[in-house]
Amino acid sequence: MSVHNSAKKGDIAKTVLMPGDPLRAKFIAEKYLDSPFCFNKVRGMLGFTGLYKGKKVSVMGSGMGMPSMSIYSYELFTEYDCNNIIRIGSCGSYQKDIQIRDIILAMATCTNSNFAHQYQLPGNFAPIANYDLLSKAYNIAGSRNLDVKVGNILTSDLFYNDDKDSWKTWAKMGVLGVEMETAALYMNATQLGKNALSILTVSDSIVTSEATTPEEREKTLTDMIEIALDLAIE
Ligand code: ADE
Repeated sequence: MSVHNSAKKGDIAKTVLMPGDPLRAKFIAEKYLDSPFCFNKVRGMLGFTGLYKGKKVSVMGSGMGMPSMSIYSYELFTEYDCNNIIRIGSCGSYQKDIQIRDIILAMATCTNSNFAHQYQLPGNFAPIANYDLLSKAYNIAGSRNLDVKVGNILTSDLFYNDDKDSWKTWAKMGVLGVEMETAALYMNATQLGKNALSILTVSDSIVTSEATTPEEREKTLTDMIEIALDLAIE
């Protein structure tokens, strides 16, 4: 048991998929895993372990934002010996050539959060994905004929931003899109010598104001989930 997780040692697989929404974790466990069991209900942050193609895989919600992701991922890495966390989430697009429903592999992320101040570095830290997970995910997507974008994103502390134009400055620097969790995950993984990757589906475009319908989200989430599950058992 850890502060925010009631799982027993051994309940959780070495690789954990983390959607933001705990009910999405339940959906994935019920749809894709054989013999799933729920290992956590504390604060409703549901977590499940089961077998995917015969191999043990876990899936647990991260909640929204860096503080929530940082708590759950830190405890998975330090209290449960997890080695790999694969975030499966949504993001908004900052680029006109990145459309809703596209899939992004977050090679790196910028952030407007002060999370890295804890490390007392004499400069800015660049949170990056684990290259092995990144390259394997890219190859799995290719083998499924899925076109994925690979690049830099922004992990923002803000969903509702008073400065309506700030995204344009990130877009000019080639940032593909915005979400709210990856920087905490990548920094925890790096600090603890573990591995992490964020796979993101574009749910909305900041450029065009388009957003996916629930039915479209279902279909594209399926592609992302299946890439992540195949990656988890590589
Ligand atoms: N996740 C999905 N869309 C987002 C947006 N527009 N801003 C922040 N996080 C997001």
